Amino acid sequence: MCGIIGYVGNKQANNILINGLLALEYRGYDSAGIATLENNEIKIMKDKGRVKNILDLDGYNELQGTYGIAHTRWATHGKPSQENSHPHMDNSNTFTVVHNGIIENYNELRSFLTDNGYTFYSQTDTEVIPNLIHYYFKNISKNTDINNTDKILEAVVKATNDLKGSYAIEVISPLMPDTIIVARKDSPLVIGTKSDENFIASDIPALLTYTKDFYLLDDNEFAVITKDSISFYNKDLENYTKEIKNIEWDASSAEKNGYEDFMLKEIFEQPNSVRETIGSRLKLNESCNFDDLQITSEYLKSINKIFIVACGTAMHAGLVGKILLEKLCKIPTEVDIASEFRYRDPIIDDKTLCIYVSQSGETADTIAALKLAKSKGAKTLAISNVIGSSITREADYTIYTHAGPEIAVASTKAYTSQVVLFAVLAIHFSELLGYDNADITINSDGQTIKLDNIKKDILDLPKKISMILEDTSLIKKFADEAYTQKDMFFLGRGVDQTVALEGSLKLKEISYIHSEAYASGELKHGPIALIENGIHVISILTDPSLAKKSISNIQEVITRGAKTMVITNQDLENTNFDYIYKIPETNPLISPILSVIPLQLLAYYISKNKGLDVDKPRNLAKSVTVE
Ligand code: F6R
Repeated sequence: MCGIIGYVGNKQANNILINGLLALEYRGYDSAGIATLENNEIKIMKDKGRVKNILDLDGYNELQGTYGIAHTRWATHGKPSQENSHPHMDNSNTFTVVHNGIIENYNELRSFLTDNGYTFYSQTDTEVIPNLIHYYFKNISKNTDINNTDKILEAVVKATNDLKGSYAIEVISPLMPDTIIVARKDSPLVIGTKSDENFIASDIPALLTYTKDFYLLDDNEFAVITKDSISFYNKDLENYTKEIKNIEWDASSAEKNGYEDFMLKEIFEQPNSVRETIGSRLKLNESCNFDDLQITSEYLKSINKIFIVACGTAMHAGLVGKILLEKLCKIPTEVDIASEFRYRDPIIDDKTLCIYVSQSGETADTIAALKLAKSKGAKTLAISNVIGSSITREADYTIYTHAGPEIAVASTKAYTSQVVLFAVLAIHFSELLGYDNADITINSDGQTIKLDNIKKDILDLPKKISMILEDTSLIKKFADEAYTQKDMFFLGRGVDQTVALEGSLKLKEISYIHSEAYASGELKHGPIALIENGIHVISILTDPSLAKKSISNIQEVITRGAKTMVITNQDLENTNFDYIYKIPETNPLISPILSVIPLQLLAYYISKNKGLDVDKPRNLAKSVTVE
């Protein structure tokens, strides 16, 4: 989705703005632009295509301004083109604006402004914003007692009052030299600060090379930013101070560290990211320690239902979370897609706990689904990777995955961290509910274990992930054979079915190969009609109690000519499977953390074989900030 960068300081702004945009490239975009201001003149350079194209535009190297704003656009209203790229100006060329989000009532505002003599040059919703600011400024500007910056701030507040939808905006004007005004509602915006220079971005990693000190702008807040001051205002123009957040992330963790792509780096980071997620929360022979979560046993005993709500990969992590919470805590748990949940009037009350999973913490549908549950009286718990992200500021409780920045659009380490966090959380809830010593049934054979067994298995996960990553040659070999395929299937039963869904999503996203994921037992109810000679079918098989059934289903596709790869921790010698990929054994309840890794690698190698842009797949965005 769109990305925003801003800079005000003593240095030449153009390269800082471009570097910031490059750091936001992973979000996905189709055009880019910057505006700087020097000698009272705004200079705009923008075009469709990559950020790097701006460097070749005439005059780029001559830009001397020491402050400016910049934008990457992911087209919503109007195709990618030079005129639709941001920044946009008002008709009098006084206000220059970049905008992330969607203005839902832009048609009405456009008609209103057209009736008042304004003309529009793009098809964007954004162009109404600078013109609205100008419209309000004209009236305020008659008052000579107020300085220009205050007048513009007031005009920005008035203009945003008219906007329906979501926005993070930056405004510059020759009337307020060396100053940027920003505002946000339902779209992310952070301000990085340093002595004598300040930075603005859509997310923290984009600025980590410059600073670790951040202000996180909240909804309906405004800031007036110069090189040595940041003043915050609410909609009533009341001025107040905000707390600085120090972010411990390392800038190098947002760089590739010698890996060809961010996705590969992030796959290989998983032993460490999972270790970080576990952190000090889980130790053998001790109760879990969630000092960042104030949920009490009284509250847990009072609830009768849990909803897990998320999108995409985060939702797939939630499917494993459901199994864990139901097995360990015996609380009925439902998983829902955020974009469905928010519009289906779900049955929620104060006896419902709603858990929202979002790597970015900025996914518009997930945030809206959280607000809905709050309005119905439920308590909300956010699981996010990004400190201070919007979802964490809305939720009653927050726990962080601490997986470190995830840059590749396709989510990998965030998923394994989300699943492991669900496992530790389920143990914590189980202890709070007094089930410390209960027998936990882990499979359909009725096999039971104790909480301590699961704790040990969780603590062993980082080592086992490293074992999988030591030798990826079989996955590469299968990818070399499979990358020309048009369709693929992923099959599994029980928890393995949730991993099949995630493997299939990964493949689609970055290799553009059509794939389907099914519960193995469902195959013969229709989809088996698609199995034909040579089709590649990948099965996940980690639950010994379901092994025989799954093997029969694999035989059914082999009989119809399928090429098969089985990802398993079982001993499957003497079978007619084409490939068997062995992963270390673990408890089936947490096996997705291991079985997903070969599937992540498979999608990666197939995408590389096809020569595609692994980190920035077409049409996709890292942070889906529009619904
Ligand atoms: C897939 C992927 C997406 C995200 C989804 C939710 O690889 O990355 O499906 O999982 O857009 O994003 P977050 O977790 O940021 O809410």
